[in-house]
Amino acid sequence: MASQLRTIVFPRRRVCCEISLVLVVLLCLVLSTTNALSGSGIPSNANSNIEDASEQLSDRILSPDYYKSVYKNINTNQEQRREISKTGDDADVFDIASKAGGRTPWDIGNNRPQPAIVRAYEEGKIKGRVLDAGCGVGENCIFLAKKYGIDSVTGFDLSEDAIKIATSTVENIAAEQEEKSSFWTTPKFLAASCTDVADRHREKLGITNNESLFDVVIDSGLLHCLSKEDADDYVNQISKLLKPNTGRFYIGCFSTANPDPWDNPRRISEDYLRNELFSCQEKWEILACRDCWWSRPPTRGSSTGGAFSLALWVEVRCLEQAKDD
Ligand SMILES: C[S@@+](CC[C@H](N)C(=O)[O-])C[C@H]1O[C@@H](n2cnc3c(N)ncnc32)[C@H](O)[C@@H]1O
Repeated sequence: MASQLRTIVFPRRRVCCEISLVLVVLLCLVLSTTNALSGSGIPSNANSNIEDASEQLSDRILSPDYYKSVYKNINTNQEQRREISKTGDDADVFDIASKAGGRTPWDIGNNRPQPAIVRAYEEGKIKGRVLDAGCGVGENCIFLAKKYGIDSVTGFDLSEDAIKIATSTVENIAAEQEEKSSFWTTPKFLAASCTDVADRHREKLGITNNESLFDVVIDSGLLHCLSKEDADDYVNQISKLLKPNTGRFYIGCFSTANPDPWDNPRRISEDYLRNELFSCQEKWEILACRDCWWSRPPTRGSSTGGAFSLALWVEVRCLEQAKDD
């Protein structure tokens, strides 16, 4: 009887032991994973959230109509801006601009140039014939136009209103600047889209032969405003405007490493620049790509950087001139 009992009970006991062992191992695994995640500050359910957020954060752009219209509102009062903000998809941007007191959501005030452009000039990188793509109201152009080593400055922007403001600012200061400095070269401005500027406006850009191509193209916040498709057209146009080999294309754009909560313009990664936008190695060479701080209107700065926000500063060389399609 006793031996019968042993054969019945023991196997059951062994199965129970094995099940308990498996359960204990599983529990340990779950606990150690949770601890590791909480130690790193990542919530255990974070993965799907991160993917969703980066998709939304990196790819949202505003419409070309927004850029055409935003400068119209520069001189409207706060009340009018609030009315405008109720009507469109871009309402949040108008609202933020109003609260910040800036003329546009990127206006850093007092007609100041972007510090990254100033630094690039001081490092001797910006010289000769310069083109400013998406020049807005021309702060960077006017800064460069006063400087030694700059032969000419041309700015273009999609917004006719921005170009009108830039042109009238220059008209107001040109005489005084000419008197003040022998370096002054009066900037020219042009309303055009970066997606077809070379094909449509070669003459207006003063390009008659290879010598009159640009030495430097600067992009202070334009690339991240464009869809991927428009960005491809844009760099193709720039390749038709830059001196091959010696010409340089400098881009300042918001980076995917930027932790700020605002969800436009789109964020740009080094991987996208190297493996998509400038991936044609016979045509482009990325000479440098590094983090930099981008100046923002005071109330639109980063949570960590005051009135600055994390961006990429990119230096690109065009190896050959693109043929007309
Ligand atoms: C973020 S703002 C930067 C303005 C100026 N570069 C600055 O540093 O303050 C981007 C500018 O790009 C212009 N823009 C947007 N799409 C454009 C396009 N397709 N062609 C030319 N300019 C464009 C906008 O009108 C706007 O002035």
